[in-house]
Amino acid sequence: MRLRRLVLISAVAVALGATLNAGAVAANGGQSDPSAQSLRTLAARHNLAIGTAVNMDALDDANDPKYRQLVASQFSTVTAENVMKWEVLEPTQGTYNWGPADELVAFAQKNHQKVRGHVLVWHNQLPAWLTDGVANGTISNTQLRDLLKKHITDVVKHFKGKIWQWDVVNEAASDPWDSPPAIHLKGFWAEHLGAGYIADAFRWARAADPNALLFYNDYNLEAFSDKGPSDKTFFVYNMIKQLRAQGVPVDGLGSQGHLGTQYGNYDTFQVKDALDAFSDLKLAVALTEVDARSQMTAGVLANDSNEINPRLQASAYNYSVLLQACLLNPHCISYTVWGFDDKHSWVPTWFTNPPEGLATLYDESYQPKKAYRMVQSDLLFAGPPFVLPRIPQTPRR
Ligand code: G3I
Repeated sequence: MRLRRLVLISAVAVALGATLNAGAVAANGGQSDPSAQSLRTLAARHNLAIGTAVNMDALDDANDPKYRQLVASQFSTVTAENVMKWEVLEPTQGTYNWGPADELVAFAQKNHQKVRGHVLVWHNQLPAWLTDGVANGTISNTQLRDLLKKHITDVVKHFKGKIWQWDVVNEAASDPWDSPPAIHLKGFWAEHLGAGYIADAFRWARAADPNALLFYNDYNLEAFSDKGPSDKTFFVYNMIKQLRAQGVPVDGLGSQGHLGTQYGNYDTFQVKDALDAFSDLKLAVALTEVDARSQMTAGVLANDSNEINPRLQASAYNYSVLLQACLLNPHCISYTVWGFDDKHSWVPTWFTNPPEGLATLYDESYQPKKAYRMVQSDLLFAGPPFVLPRIPQTPRR
């Protein structure tokens, strides 16, 4: 008798639970729990690709399946954090190491993700044989230009048809704290080839893959300042405007979005104004490397919630400002974070004095932080009349 009664009570409880759950689902129009919706699912409502830079060592770590699972489930576009850079692709002149990058492309194809190629021309992470050759004079500037053309052509042809957006030229502009403070072209490539390397790079990339979208990518472009000589955003805006006037095939502007909570940073409309200026040049725009780091003060390191909470909330605010500005511009086609978890973020390695961290959407144990929930809710609540689906960019001839 007792067993039968237990079975009956259990059956009633299950039926009641199902009814309540059905009621909850019906209450919000038949949608399941919004907090369980992935970022890629919520972003797809706006035809927005949401992505992350991918650390291939972590993706390949059989002891850390959670990393791989989150890359696949949360994101609809991936960027090679390092494995498409020249020093990795061609560590020895003429010998290409395609493996890790091909693995990322295969992973993306398997998970129905688009790929951002990063990066064809940058003054960092160049192979030693190239920089040493230039330094010791065995590589002339003419030979250097030929080597750059070969690199771009070989790499873009190798991935032809598999790359949605290429970061063709990265961080070519100086910063206001450089000397002179007036913004100018900086770095290895400008020093040895002059300003013309930028137009060359875009033309060579277009010739190698006519269908890839070609981006200029840089940091500290989130907003205009005074549109004076030290305004980096205004310098890049005018540089791209001039390139387009010369028929150079620039399709998009990548605004990296590396922010720090210790700075004033911006509001949504300041960022919107900058994105709108670039899309008014008929460019697609994208947030390409978003993170919002904090100083790891003694209190933060001592796990003092009074020190940690304001920083986590300020980080969330910064993610939201960049996402809201992107959503307001229908030519903002992707929003990519530069690593999604604090365990694999580049920040602690690069900012050590004073130490910085807490920059990403997930904590060191893959628990969603305030920033994740902020991004999730922005995507959930956004909609017409001010937020409309993205307008796909086509390569500009
Ligand atoms: O792979 C080698 C490893 O074999 C070696 O043992 C180890 C120690 O020297 O270095 C490893 O390479 C490191 C690489 O990251 C992979 O972990 C390089 O030293 C290190 O310099 C490199 O840092 C990358 C940094 O760019 C280089 O400037 C970061 O991971 C990467 O997140 C960062 O990304 C850049 C974007 O490409 C452009 N925008 C800014 C952004 C942040 O700096």
